[in-house]
Formats: sequence, structure tokens, C-alpha cells
Amino acid sequence: MDKIRITGGKELNGDIEISGAKNASLPLMAAAILTDQPLMLSRVPDLKDVLSLNDVLEQLGIRAQYDGRSKKLALNGAKITNTEAPYDLVRKMRASILVLGPLVARMGEAKVSLPGGCAIGTRPVDLHIEGLKRLGAEIELHEGYILARAPKGLTGAPVHFTKVSVGATENIMMAASLAKGTTVLTNAAREPEIVDLGECLIKMGAEIEGLGTDKITIQGKQFLRGTEHSVIADRIEAGTFAVAGAMTGGTITLKNCDIKHLQYLVAPMHKAGVHMTGDKGDVIIHREDDRIHGFDIMTEPYPGFPTDLQAQMMSMLTICDGAGMITETIFENRFMHVPELVRMGANITVHGASALVRGVPKLKGAPVMATDLRASVSLILAGLVAEGVTTVSRIYHLDRGYEDLVGKLTGVGAQLERLKDQEEAAE
Ligand code: UD1
Repeated sequence: MDKIRITGGKELNGDIEISGAKNASLPLMAAAILTDQPLMLSRVPDLKDVLSLNDVLEQLGIRAQYDGRSKKLALNGAKITNTEAPYDLVRKMRASILVLGPLVARMGEAKVSLPGGCAIGTRPVDLHIEGLKRLGAEIELHEGYILARAPKGLTGAPVHFTKVSVGATENIMMAASLAKGTTVLTNAAREPEIVDLGECLIKMGAEIEGLGTDKITIQGKQFLRGTEHSVIADRIEAGTFAVAGAMTGGTITLKNCDIKHLQYLVAPMHKAGVHMTGDKGDVIIHREDDRIHGFDIMTEPYPGFPTDLQAQMMSMLTICDGAGMITETIFENRFMHVPELVRMGANITVHGASALVRGVPKLKGAPVMATDLRASVSLILAGLVAEGVTTVSRIYHLDRGYEDLVGKLTGVGAQLERLKDQEEAAE
């Protein structure tokens, strides 16, 4: 398995182009199931998760053509030949559950493997299932599969989510777009990726109101048409590079991303002594003082602080002047980066869902292991400021969600390289 070797201590300066959002691309791809006409997506990042969902869609009979250079993805669901998403494909990526709502809405049936647990907690799919039942689907769980049936189609209904869920909001919003009548989602998620999906569904012919609020009203249509849609910028990738800039010093410009979607980061960055300013679609990061100052964060659904930036912020706190507290409220078991950061000299104590991070003047390079997507990038960030060499193994996690991470960081002055399997053996 490949590794990344980082030599720490370089100040980063320059521009980083932000890719299209992974978490917006995946639901948009699933929306291709809703129409027999082509859906043309642009600014789709070249990531393992995108390829995994392409495999699921192709299994259903959807033609998928991705051009990694232009970042355009053409999806054509003229003929859906199969309504089953098998375990072998779904287990690779939980977000495959997003095909469930669109499939049952268009085809009247779906068989989708339960995603099962994952590294950051149990992550159930009960809200997806309950929401579809409210729209009239009959659902059974059988041998690890969700079997959903709605032979006469789905019917709009009020759906109240007992917990805010990004994926469940997306799944039900897509299903409701092809249901008869009106669906009102309450306690819906408000993430920019949901707004992006909703805007695409509107272009496809659905009538949707309340995007970006916790009450979304969807007027379903008998047919939806194809369209073209450009994916929004990846705010988690942008936030990750903002942290890289803050930790290493220097000035970084994040190109083509929206500071509006990064508001939760501005206040903790300010506390840390880092300026974050928007400039015509770019975001500029500049640290004022020699050391980062301590700050506290608590993860929450949008517009609160995203769990997907929690590990990166912890990395940043490890070298602060003072201390900071991180509280994770979205996923249990999302502190797996802690022991790895401690191996690099960080001083972190975990109490339940909170971690107290006491800053140290310097981290020390060490061999460390990635455990999930965001945890792995937090180790890369730590490696950028650590004394000496850090080697991060199991970086296949990174390939799921960061497009050309090594290229983007070396482009602004970082010293890191990807070691292929064979080079590792020679190490
Ligand atoms: C999405 C993001 C992921 C991010 C997460 C939270 C994508 C592809 N992934 O994941 O990167 O970390 O939002 O911002 O967009 N829950 C239930 N029952 C359900 C569904 C969820 O209890 O049926 C719980 C989860 O266990 C978790 C919370 O709700 O505690 C939020 O999860 P959810 O918003 O659904 O996350 P995902 O959509 O899986």
C-alpha cells in the first residue's frame, strides 16, 4: 500500500485551486437515476468515491462517462436494467445508500445493501428508511439488504426527521421529486451540498422551496428531465488547506471557493490569530503571530462547525500557544487520529466526546497510520509542521476524498511525496 512521506517545516505560500465538492457530487450523481435523459455534471472531482458510485450506477444500467481532465461526468439513465446495489459495491462507500430513494421513486423497487458499520461509528440508515416509508414505500430488511417496493409509485407526505441527517435529507428530497403531490421535510439538513442538489433537481423540473432552511417543500413531478450542472466548491477541502496555511505560516489563496460556505471557520481562525478573508470568489489565509492561539470548537450540523473538519482543527491545536477543547457531537468514535497525533508528540486527553488539546512548541515526525478520510489528512497537516520526517501509511483513505493532495501542497512549497508500494519495500 502507498504511503506519503513528509519533511516538515516548510512555510506555505501561493494559490491552491479548490476542487468540486465530493459530498455534493455523490448525491448529484444519484439524481441521474431520476431521469431517462442525460445528466451532465461538471467540476466533478477525480476521486475514489466518485468512481465507486459510478460503479454502482453502471451496475444499475446507467451509462457513466467521466473525463478526469475536464472533470465532466456524463450520466445517462435512459434504461435502468437492474434495481440492485450489491454489498460488494455498497460496502466500499456508505453514500451508495443515496441510490435507494431515486431507484424506488423511478422504478417502483430497489434492493440496496445495508452499508454496515464504518470506522467512525455505527452510522445507521433508519432515517432514510422511515422517510421512504412515509412516502408510501414498503420496506423490509432481508439478509443484509433493504428491499423497498412502491409498485404504484411514491406519494408526497410530511416527513419529520428526528435527527438532522445530510444523507437522509438528500435521499428523501430526490425520491419526493418523483412522488405524486407535495412532501414537506422538517428538521431537514441545511448543508450547501443539499442546496446544490436541490438546485439541480429544480433544473430537472422539480418544484422545491426552502433550500438552505430546515423546512423543505417539494412538489413532485411525473417525469424529470436531464440538465447540466456544475458542482459547488469543496468547502471541506478548502477548510483543510486553510488549516495547512494557518499551521505553516505564509499566505495561501484558496482559488474558486465561497467564503459564505466557510463562515464557521472564520471565528475559530480569528481566535487562533489567523485572518481569513474573501476576495472575489477566492479566500485568503494569513497567520498574524508566530504561534497559533488556543480556541474551542464543537461540531454541529450546518451552519455549525463541520465534523469533517474536526480532525484538521485538532492538528492545528496541537501546536497552539495555550490549549483548546474539541467536542464531537455528530459521530461517536471520531477521535481515532488522537493516538497517532500523540505519537508525534501532541498532548491530547480525551474525555468522552471532548478532547482537551494542550499545545506543544513542536511536533516530531514519526511513522503514523491513517484510519479514516479526515483523520488521514490531519496527520498530513501535522507532518507539514513536525520536525523531521513523517510517514503516513494507509493513505487509500485520502484518495477517497482529496484530489491531487500531494500536487496541491507541493505547489505551495510543502515537501512531501507519495511512495508507491515498491519504493516502500525498498525503504
Ligand atoms: C454526510 C457526509 C459526511 C459528513 C456527515 C455529517 C456525504 C457523502 N457525507 O454523511 O462527510 O461527515 O454528512 O456532516 O455527504 N444518522 C442516523 N440515522 C440515519 C442517518 C444518520 O442516526 O438514518 C446519524 C448518523 O449516525 C450521525 C448523524 O445522524 O450521527 C449525521 O449523519 P448524516 O448527516 O446522515 O451523515 P451522512 O449523510 O452519512
